[in-house]
Amino acid sequence: MTDRELVERAFEMLRFSYVPYSKFPVGAALECADGTVFTGCNVENSAYGSTICAERTALVKAVSEGHRDDFVRLAVVGNSKDYCWPCGACRQMLYEFAPELTVLVARWDHQFVRLPLRELLPHGFGPKDLEQGS
Ligand code: THU
Repeated sequence: MTDRELVERAFEMLRFSYVPYSKFPVGAALECADGTVFTGCNVENSAYGSTICAERTALVKAVSEGHRDDFVRLAVVGNSKDYCWPCGACRQMLYEFAPELTVLVARWDHQFVRLPLRELLPHGFGPKDLEQGS
């Protein structure tokens, strides 16, 4: 699958976003090494803090179906003027399972940039760091 195809899979998810509060739909598509793609959208809640982002929806769908250490690329997209950058919580959740992940970030006109998760989350804290505790 090309980067463009993965980005378009994420764009297809915008129609499922539940965003009555922010009116800011986000879509995501997470690719595994075997080519399986898990998609997600943001799902908001009247208790605002219970909202889940599109990237974490896709990640949790994947992990709950047995995928853990085989994530290759993630696309995250929005209708926003600027690129739809993943929030800090999503960067952290992705880093747990895939510090070497490639991330594609798109904006309203379907243009996207490609960069490593390590660039989005430098010096990230992960499972290996816990092993070094006292
Ligand atoms: N949102 C995402 O889905 N992913 C991000 O990484 C950034 C923020 C959603 C959450 C909320 O529904 C809306 O965008 C506005 O914050």
